[in-house]
Parts: sequence; C-alpha cells; structure tokens
Amino acid sequence: MGSREGPCWGWGCCAPGPVLLLSLLWAAPSALLGEETRQLFEFDGTNASDTAAQPPGRPYPPYSLAEFSWSNVSGSVDPATLSATFQGHPTGDPTGAFANGSLAFRVQAFPRSGRPAQPPRLLHTADTCQLEVALSGASPRGNRSLFGLEVATLGPGPACPSLQGQHSIDDEYAPAVFQLDQLLWGSLPSGFVQWRPVAFSQKQGGRESALPCRASPPYPTLAYLLSQSPIVRAFFGSQNNFCAFNLTFGTPTGPGYWDQHYLSWSALLGVGAPPVDALSPLVLGIMVVALGAPALLLLAGGLFLLLGPKGYSEYQRIN
Ligand SMILES: *[C@@H]1O[C@H](CO)[C@@H](O)[C@H](O)[C@H]1NC(C)=O
Ligand SMILES: *[C@@H]1O[C@H](CO)[C@@H](O)[C@H](O)[C@H]1NC(C)=O
Ligand SMILES: *[C@@H]1O[C@H](CO)[C@@H](O)[C@H](O)[C@H]1NC(C)=O
Ligand SMILES: *[C@@H]1O[C@H](CO)[C@@H](O)[C@H](O)[C@H]1NC(C)=O
Ligand SMILES: *[C@@H]1O[C@H](CO)[C@@H](O)[C@H](O)[C@H]1NC(C)=O
Repeated sequence: MGSREGPCWGWGCCAPGPVLLLSLLWAAPSALLGEETRQLFEFDGTNASDTAAQPPGRPYPPYSLAEFSWSNVSGSVDPATLSATFQGHPTGDPTGAFANGSLAFRVQAFPRSGRPAQPPRLLHTADTCQLEVALSGASPRGNRSLFGLEVATLGPGPACPSLQGQHSIDDEYAPAVFQLDQLLWGSLPSGFVQWRPVAFSQKQGGRESALPCRASPPYPTLAYLLSQSPIVRAFFGSQNNFCAFNLTFGTPTGPGYWDQHYLSWSALLGVGAPPVDALSPLVLGIMVVALGAPALLLLAGGLFLLLGPKGYSEYQRIN
C-alpha cells in the first residue's frame, strides 16, 4: 500500500472525512478502524431448512483473507467521490473459483452529511466512512451457496463492543428493512459500526434483490494475534483485546448470490456517537394523517353534536 509519502492525496487533508478515509486507506483492508475481516465463509444452503440456523448450512473450507492478494489501491482512488477500492482474490486458487471474481472493499468518505444513492441509504455525516464489501464473479462451490464474513475487532477496553439492534417504523430508505444494527465501543476512543441488516444480490440494490444479513454477537477471542498495521497500533495502543463476530448473508430460498454471482453489503464506521436517523418526511406525513384523522373525526363529531341535528323532535316517539 505505497504512497504513504503523499498524505493529502490531492484533496484537502483538513476535513474530517478525507482524514478518516486516509486512515482507512492506510489501515485497510488488513484493519478497518480496528476491524479486520478475517475470512470469507461459504456454506452449502441446499438442505438448510431453518433459515435462522447458524451456520446456515454445511460449511465449505473458508477463504482466509490473509492469503488474498490485493490490487494496488492507488489506481482506484477517486478524489471526486472520496473513495478507494481494495480488490483481492486468493493467492492460491487451485479450483479457479476466483478466476473471474474478486472480493472488493470500497471505502468512501463524505464531505458533508447525506445519504448515498444506493440502498440501504444510511444517514452519514462528514465524520463517518462507508465500507462496502462486494463479492462478484467468483464461482460458488454449490448451487445454493450462502456467504459470510468473519470480522475481528479490537478495542482498548476489556469488553467487546456491544451489538445492538434498533427497530424503527421507518423503511423509506431501505425498503422492508425496519432494523438498524450497530456495534458500539463505549470506552474511549468511542466508535461505532452501523448497518442495516440487508445485503443485495444485484448491483442496483432493491427490494427484489435484498437478502437478510445476520450478525452474531462479538465474543472475546485470543485466536487472532493480528498483524496490526502501524496506524491501528497508534490509534488503539498495543494493549488490545480482540473480539470476533460473524456476518452471514441470505437464506437458501429467495434471492441469493446464485442469481448474478454478486453480493454486496455496506456499513458505516466512525468515531464518537453514531448518527441518529430522524423519521423520514413520508413517515411523518403518514403519522400526522394517521393520528390526525381520528382527532379530526372526533372534532367533527363533537361539532356535529353541538351544531348539527337540531330537529330531533322529528324522531321523537310517535306513540
Ligand atoms: C501503486 O501504483 C502507484 C501509481 O499508480 C505507484 O506509484 C506505486 O508504486 C504502486 N505501489 C505498488 C505497491 O505497486
Ligand atoms: C440433501 O438432502 C438430500 C435428501 O435428504 C440428500 O440426498 C442430499 O445428499 C443432501 N445434500 C446435501 C448437500 O447435504
Ligand atoms: C472466466 O471468463 C472466461 C471468459 O469470459 C470464461 O471463458 C471462463 O470460463 C471463466 N471462468 C470461470 C471459472 O468462470
Ligand atoms: C446444481 O444443479 C444442477 C442442476 O440442477 C445439478 O446437476 C448439479 O449437480 C448441482 N450441483 C451441486 C453442486 O449441487
Ligand atoms: C464464524 O462461523 C464459522 C463457521 O460457521 C465458525 O467456525 C466460527 O467460529 C464463527 N466465528 C465467530 C466469531 O462466531
């Protein structure tokens, strides 16, 4: 990952966004803000009937990302979108599964708050970075292959970051997804990873290509004596504890990698507190109508009673 001598990469090095991107560039993909993707899992989902089961099928031998070779990131740095892509494939690939395929990590910083055009359109701020993982073109080892990632995290505190699922009534930006998952590091420097539990089996992510993404809670592990990059060591110090968790994508039924040999998932990373999404204007509108309509009816009813039927003498008993 050369180019360490050019810390500004052609764009302003003062805005938090690019600085964060830079640290990610230096650290990734071996360690993304204290996160390191260790392995790419592939499971045979053919006979898996319990869609919530972990693992979601018989596992094939995993691909270790330590044995991937990564393309020179310099060629993929795009100052216009503040993004860069690390593309890799297994160094030894005896079956040729990755002959036409790759696993890509795209990191993107943002000059201001907003939402990306692609779902799940998580709200970002200038202090956050987006990480998008895409597996494309690799030949699966079965007809119903499900994929997963094992992610190791490190942090300064004794505890693992906590995994929280937040429910929302709002799915305007991520159709049919009413949950937001986040991993929170409480101890300083506090930080977060935030994602919608959804992955996509097509480049143009949409409802018809959405697959569920499950995360296992992080648990402490000694299995990873991470070959820490200098920036991670500088950021977290050398006294670290390691935690690991698994992400698995999709179910044997429904859309999947088999559709187009494509799978993508994205998350937002940052330091400090995560951005909090307000209700979208559409949902607010619906709520106003939903809560407002009964109130209007009550009011109308009250007015009707007060002002309305003066002539009830007509309905008086006639006997
Ligand atoms: C990556 O590419 C840049 C120019 O595109 C070059 O200067 C640098 O030496 C390359 N790094 C490696 C490790 O090949
Ligand atoms: C799936 O189940 C069928 C019938 O039970 C069995 O014949 C087949 O070998 C199983 N396939 C896998 C991949 O486990
Ligand atoms: C890779 O692509 C080439 C050309 O499109 C094709 O001939 C070959 O069969 C592909 N290999 C795999 C493993 O998909
Ligand atoms: C995939 O499906 C095809 C046709 O349905 C079948 O011939 C083949 O054996 C299956 N492959 C695996 C690995 O299950
Ligand atoms: C992740 O899943 C794999 C395969 O099911 C398993 O071997 C591994 O222990 C899991 N790791 C974590 C951190 O849960």
